[in-house]
Amino acid sequence: MYSTTESKCFAIFAFERDAPAHNTVVAGGQTTPFHLLNFNNNFNIMKKIYKAHILFTKERSHFEVFENGYVAVGADGRVIGVAADLASLDSEDAEVVDFGDRLLIPAMNDMHVHAPQVRNQGVAMDLELLPWLQNYTFPEESKYADIHYAESMYRRFLHTQWLFGTMRSCVFGTVHTESTRLLMKLYQEAGMGALVGKVAMNRHCPEALSEDVEAAVEGNERLIAEFNHPDALVRPIITPRFVPSCSPELLSACGELANKYNLPVQSHLSENTSEIAWVAELEPESKSYGDAYNRYGLFGQTPTIMAHCVWTEGVELELMKRNNVMVAHCPTSNYNLASGMAPVRTFLDEGLRVGLGSDISGGHDLNMFRMLVYAIQVSKMHYQSNHEKHFLTLSEVFWIATKSAGSFFGKVGSFEPGYEFDALVIDDAVLNFDNYTLLERLERYIYLGDDRQIEHRFCRGKLIEEPKVV
Ligand code: GUN
Ligand code: FE
Repeated sequence: MYSTTESKCFAIFAFERDAPAHNTVVAGGQTTPFHLLNFNNNFNIMKKIYKAHILFTKERSHFEVFENGYVAVGADGRVIGVAADLASLDSEDAEVVDFGDRLLIPAMNDMHVHAPQVRNQGVAMDLELLPWLQNYTFPEESKYADIHYAESMYRRFLHTQWLFGTMRSCVFGTVHTESTRLLMKLYQEAGMGALVGKVAMNRHCPEALSEDVEAAVEGNERLIAEFNHPDALVRPIITPRFVPSCSPELLSACGELANKYNLPVQSHLSENTSEIAWVAELEPESKSYGDAYNRYGLFGQTPTIMAHCVWTEGVELELMKRNNVMVAHCPTSNYNLASGMAPVRTFLDEGLRVGLGSDISGGHDLNMFRMLVYAIQVSKMHYQSNHEKHFLTLSEVFWIATKSAGSFFGKVGSFEPGYEFDALVIDDAVLNFDNYTLLERLERYIYLGDDRQIEHRFCRGKLIEEPKVV
């Protein structure tokens, strides 16, 4: 139905809520049957202007709000500009899509998640980290030697991420190269962005998950050869599970891979007090847990993100700052595994980069909007013991989840010019039954909404259709 927009003439697609499906679009002067989900192939390669209530956070102190505003997106999927009126944008050759009373916001980024733990989502919450790994997590991840099991679980996982509007992720696979490759192919197929890690581990784990150093390097290099293209949406990330799982030789090999191929690094850091004590025994030369990674070239030598940092302070915090290491704050996981409460206000005050992670299945919730709420709530618990550390505001957590997190992928998470257009169209009519302001509508969506209100999802300018579950 979008074929008329190939012409030079400028077309407005009115997008009325409850509109009859047969007569609401005006395209190049013609009335065209309307159904927005019928985007044709050309839809994704033309310059677009979207009209909606646009909200995003350029700075963490406040939202930019454009009531009935316009955002122009180039054929390369990047934002050209945002404006309060159409006349301020160059609309020649553009197709205009009117989303009516809907909200248009940046999509979510999940900065720490274990795809192969999806089977355990919402179960096994009765142990702390180390026994939890041994009793529940490692046995589940062992099943991913079976590519068929991996496919059915990974499809389900990806579908749920899509439902909740998570368009970019930093993902842990398993030690299995083939299953991890499949996960990367599924992200490619879906058109969603991801840094995907084949997990490196060779000690303190079941035999089935232990891989020797040569095999780990060989498996990583196979994935690197296939997927490591500079502009690709789906790329490898070097993923030592955590210090207790990796021998010094394996950590060295991971550092060398990251350096040789200039690849980012992800891992876990200072999540649980027993874990930290164990790392101190395993790596007695290191000045902190973070320093143990640093000594192997895995702490900011290439872009690095560390999950949790619940107990990070002092020399470890200083090192993170110096090396520009990003924190993936995972509040639900930290509650469920009784790990503690990460001091996010301190991280922000110190100038550390922070994003949010679901950490399935330590965390139980793949809805990243809910993660914003949990992050605020954790910061309010901190505030009770120290009123000098003010709790996080909505604009701060929104900024953390979008622009701050998105910086790990490049220019992602904002609607400023040059940013990749990762966006969600939210139809919050069901929540908007009084005269709420636009900011209140967004707040209510974040606190109360779910996938049912997400009408469209865009990643790098492309409309992302529902991925197949089977
Ligand atoms: N530390 C090492 N592995 C894991 C994991 O799978 N989940 C969490 N939350 N922490 C870890
Ligand atoms: Fe984790």
